[in-house]
Amino acid sequence: MKKMLMPSMMCVDILRLREHLDLFEKVGVDALHIDVMDGHFVPNLQLGVDYCRYLASATDLPLDYHFMVEEPEKIIPWFPIRKGDLVSLHVEGTGHVCRALDAVVKKGAVPMVALNPGTPLSVLDELYDMIRGVLLMTVNPGYAGQTMIESTLGKIERLHAILAEKGRTDIGIEVDGQVGKNFARMLRAGAGLFVLGSSDYLDTDDLDLLAARTAGYRRLLEAEA
Ligand code: DX5
Ligand code: ZN
Repeated sequence: MKKMLMPSMMCVDILRLREHLDLFEKVGVDALHIDVMDGHFVPNLQLGVDYCRYLASATDLPLDYHFMVEEPEKIIPWFPIRKGDLVSLHVEGTGHVCRALDAVVKKGAVPMVALNPGTPLSVLDELYDMIRGVLLMTVNPGYAGQTMIESTLGKIERLHAILAEKGRTDIGIEVDGQVGKNFARMLRAGAGLFVLGSSDYLDTDDLDLLAARTAGYRRLLEAEA
């Protein structure tokens, strides 16, 4: 899968949403990351159906949904998921991962699974044929502005090696949690899809600085290609 830069919308100042969307379109980010939290799977509530409907009508940028919810198979059909959007659901949230992935495929979106930092990669063994990406959480899901869990860097490397051995370059590795500060290390480890949250990215309200930071991350991606 191609390498992607994806701002995390929960970190965008809601009162300046339109300005941010215009900037993201202008600087050419690849998708917008949407954190959906249900207050059960994670101890927080975030971005709902109406907000996503607004975003889907306000921009043609693809949306990268991250469902941190219990029983995602019940909730995914509520969302205005478009063809070409990306959808990650946590394997820890459901006993029916395959059914939940089916719900994503039915929408014409890119099916992906997300893993908490403590969930081993072996859970993917039965899923490789059904997915086009794996979102590796590099912090515990639920909040922006935490500290990266160091062991997750080795996990990115190990998944990268497994995918290379299987010849599955079509499966992308997404990283989420303190990505900005650790961008170069994550890229070297084999990550390809980068969620840019409060870490060295959306912690500023200076849009020129944000444009410069986006260009800086893009240069790092291009240098690695
Ligand atoms: C955390 C969310 C992230 C969040 C990352 O549970 O999934 O998308 O925005 O924010 P930072 O980059 O601040 O860790
Ligand atoms: Zn996320």
